[in-house]
Amino acid sequence: MTTESKPSLAKVQVGRRALLCGIATLSLGFLPDAAEAATGITQGKDGKIHIDLKKNKGLAKVGGAVVLGLADGSSLALVRSAAGTNGLNALNLSCTHNGVTVMEQDKKWICPAHGSQFALNGKLVNGPARSALMKYPLKVTSSEAIIG
Ligand code: FES
Repeated sequence: MTTESKPSLAKVQVGRRALLCGIATLSLGFLPDAAEAATGITQGKDGKIHIDLKKNKGLAKVGGAVVLGLADGSSLALVRSAAGTNGLNALNLSCTHNGVTVMEQDKKWICPAHGSQFALNGKLVNGPARSALMKYPLKVTSSEAIIG
């Protein structure tokens, strides 16, 4: 059974250093060697993260993802799992089993610790995790995704 819970807004805090140091990366089609720096990412005074969709064209393809390191040490991914505005998901990449960061592989999120697998949209595919990856609130317009 999969359940999705919503992390608090307070967790969506991108450290200023993380943004300035370019921790944000854009991976295209889950190929590590195709990763490139993401651009057009800002954080509003309200803490919400704005990702320019036109500057991150890889997000147009299923499997494209922008991965951000957060100030609390966890990672957030804006990932496309399907076409259209409803096909984007903002996921916390901490495995719901024991919190290890999941990694992209074969259009799934795989946990390197004990092998849990999650679909691109965060839904649980195989345990030992017992629930989906947590999702952040997400609003998508024609030009940007707003997380938080
Ligand atoms: S921490 Fe991810 S499967 Fe155990």
